[in-house]
Amino acid sequence: MSQIQSWLVTGAAGCIGSNFVRYWCDQYPDNKVVVLDSLTYAGDRNSLADLETNPGFQFVQGDITDHHLVESLLREHQLNGIVNFAAESHVDRSISGPGTFISTNIVGTQRLLEAARQVWLGDGFSGDHRFHQVSTDEVYGSLGDDDPAFTEDHSYQPSSPYAASKASADHLVRSYQHTYGLHTSISNCSNNYGPYQFPEKLIGLTICNLVRGKALPIYGTGKNIRDWLFVDDHCRGIDRVLRSGEPGCTYNIGGGTELTNIELVERLCDLADRLIGDSKELQLRFPDSLAAKGVPSRSLIEFVSDRPGHDWRYAIDISRIERDLGYQPATQIDAGLSLTMRWYFDNEAWWQSVMDGSYQQWIDTQYSTGD
Ligand SMILES: NC(=O)c1ccc[n+]([C@@H]2O[C@H](COP(=O)([O-])OP(=O)(O)OC[C@H]3O[C@@H](n4cnc5c(N)ncnc54)[C@H](O)[C@@H]3O)[C@@H](O)[C@H]2O)c1
Repeated sequence: MSQIQSWLVTGAAGCIGSNFVRYWCDQYPDNKVVVLDSLTYAGDRNSLADLETNPGFQFVQGDITDHHLVESLLREHQLNGIVNFAAESHVDRSISGPGTFISTNIVGTQRLLEAARQVWLGDGFSGDHRFHQVSTDEVYGSLGDDDPAFTEDHSYQPSSPYAASKASADHLVRSYQHTYGLHTSISNCSNNYGPYQFPEKLIGLTICNLVRGKALPIYGTGKNIRDWLFVDDHCRGIDRVLRSGEPGCTYNIGGGTELTNIELVERLCDLADRLIGDSKELQLRFPDSLAAKGVPSRSLIEFVSDRPGHDWRYAIDISRIERDLGYQPATQIDAGLSLTMRWYFDNEAWWQSVMDGSYQQWIDTQYSTGD
C-alpha cells in the first residue's frame, strides 16, 4: 500500500478535481495537497472555497504546460504524487475548436510527466512516487447495443478530437512507465455527474434549464447510451487506485448504470416536477420552471440535429477494480440525481456566476449530450 502523503492535484478547480480534493482532505487530513489550475472557463476557485483554510491545502494558478512551474512546485513542496485532472473536457468544444485540446491534454500531460521524471527519477530523490492520469472511457470508441462493455484491454479507437487527445495522453503516460520506470497509473471512467459540474454537461445543463423553463435539447433520437458515475464514487475509485493499484496498471471506473440520453432527461424532468411541485419555497424561487406552473417539464424536451461523429454507446466493465481493489459504486442513479438536483437548487449563486455572458452566448448556440 502506497504511503505517499503530498500531492500535486491539477485541474482541481473543475468538477471532478474539486470533489476529489474535498474527499481527499476529508479522508487524509494530514496530507499536503497543492492544486494547480489555470482557471479556464471551466475552472472556478469558488469550487474550493471551503478548503482554503485547510492547513495542508494550497492553490496555485498556473498552466500544466509550464514545465518549470511544475518542476519547482514538486521540489519546493516536496510533492511525490501527481493526480492529473487538468484537461479540456467537453466533446462539443473539441469539435468546434480542437487546438486547446491538443495543447492541454497532450502537451500538458507530457510536460507534467517530464517534470515528474526530472524530479522523481533525478539525483537526490528517494522514496515512493506516483503519477496518476484521470482518463475516459471515450478512448475505447463506440459500442453497438449488444457489444460487451469495454474492458481495460479493449483497443483504443477514439472518435472525437477530445477522445483522441485523451488517448494520446494515456499512451504517453504508459511510455513514461515503460521507458523510464516512472510509477504511473491510469483510470478510465464513464460520464460523471454531481456537485460543481460546469453546466455545459448534460445533467448540470438540464437542471439549470429546467429551473429557468428553458428548452432541453437532445441530440438525434436521444437513444445514445452512456454509463453514469456519481462523482463521489469516482473519487473513492481513484483513492483505491492511488493507495493499492499496481504501478503501470489501468483501471476502469464506472457507475453500473446505462441509460439512454432521453431516459436520463425524462428522469430529471420527473424529479424536478416532484421536488418543485412539493415545495412552495422552490416554486417561489424558480417561478419560470414549468414545475412551478403545474405543467410537466417533459414538454421542454426538443430533439435537435445530431452531433457529427456522435458515439452510440459507452459501457464500462469494472471487473478488474472490483476484483483487485474491492471497488463498488455505492450511489444508485436516482439517489445521485436527487442529490445533484438539490445541490443545484441550493447553489444557484455558484452556477449563475459560472454562466457568465460569454459562456451564455456560447451555450445558447450549442447543445450538449453530457460527454
Ligand atoms: N466529466 C466527465 O464526465 C469525465 C468523464 C471521463 C473523464 N473525465 C476526465 O476527468 C478530468 C476532469 O474532468 P472534469 O469534468 O472535472 O473537467 P472540467 O472541465 O470540469 O475541469 C477541468 C479543469 O482543468 C483546468 N484546466 C484546463 N486546462 C488547464 C491547463 N492547461 N492547466 C491547468 N489547468 C487547466 C480548468 O481550469 C478546470 O478547472 C479530465 O481529465 C477529463 O478528461 C471527465
